[in-house]
Amino acid sequence: MLLFKQTEKLQTYLQRMKKAGKTIGFVPTMGALHEGHLSLIRLSHAQHDLTVCSIFVNPTQFNDPEDLRRYPRQVSSDAAMLESENCNVLFCPLVSEIYPEGASHAAGPDLPLHGLDQTMEGAHRPGHFRGVLQVVYRLLDVVHPDTLYLGQKDAQQHTIIRHMIDTLLLPVELVIGPTVREKDGLAMSSRNALLTQEARSAAPRIYKALQMAAQLFGTTPVPEIRRKAIEFLNQPPLEPEYFEIVDPRTLQPIDSTEECTEALACAAVKAGEVRLIDNTLLKTQA
Ligand code: PAJ
Repeated sequence: MLLFKQTEKLQTYLQRMKKAGKTIGFVPTMGALHEGHLSLIRLSHAQHDLTVCSIFVNPTQFNDPEDLRRYPRQVSSDAAMLESENCNVLFCPLVSEIYPEGASHAAGPDLPLHGLDQTMEGAHRPGHFRGVLQVVYRLLDVVHPDTLYLGQKDAQQHTIIRHMIDTLLLPVELVIGPTVREKDGLAMSSRNALLTQEARSAAPRIYKALQMAAQLFGTTPVPEIRRKAIEFLNQPPLEPEYFEIVDPRTLQPIDSTEECTEALACAAVKAGEVRLIDNTLLKTQA
């Protein structure tokens, strides 16, 4: 696996590979890699000549400085994991490579989001998605992949990135990989490593609440499902921030199953000091 820290060197290398007819799959990450990330590397590896993974803890998407400070960083063990998955290229830039003018001066793409960033994560983490779009736009401009791989775990993120790709007509295909879970249902996340033992034992309730919503969807009024899920999650050390049932295209909350036969249940829960998110697709029985 080749390691690049400099944008220019990576670009020169990738241009050479493209001229030689190689296709490129790209998996952007913030590191502290786990099976969820590796599943995306495998998807890319199966579909492309070259797989590029980036590890960059993007300061502009953290609305909470404390969250940024304690975000796990373990690049050498990450590199070993990527190597064993036959990842071809690892890109680990410094902030100054991604934002040469300084992170606070860097402008993201200018596009209307039509409220996609106003609900759920967007409502609870002001500025988060502008930071995500800013870094993904910049990384796509550096890597120019044929395919971008993102996880269903961050459903609002991939919906907003798809909106950017469609609106700006970016020449990249988007593939979404399914959420990879621990045996007890907890969605894998880099933040899981920060959970206390007590919070780790309670955290599988998040997926249980989502499954409960999936069972009730179509037979129980939506506000009632929401209320039940919040009640189920509201047990220390868990503290639900939101539990929303939304239209997967607009990300706006729905009030009844008459509005759509498919919906997305999304949860954000504080487990002790650690904030976790998860989601699942809901379908009415045909
Ligand atoms: P990060 O949280 O490191 O996630 C990188 C990619 O892995 C994202 O597409 C995310 O949805 C996916 N992922 C995370 N956990 C997963 C799981 N359990 N199963 C499947 N896929 C999973 O998301 C980010 O980084 C950043 O916002 C980024 C897009 C890199 C921009 O900075």
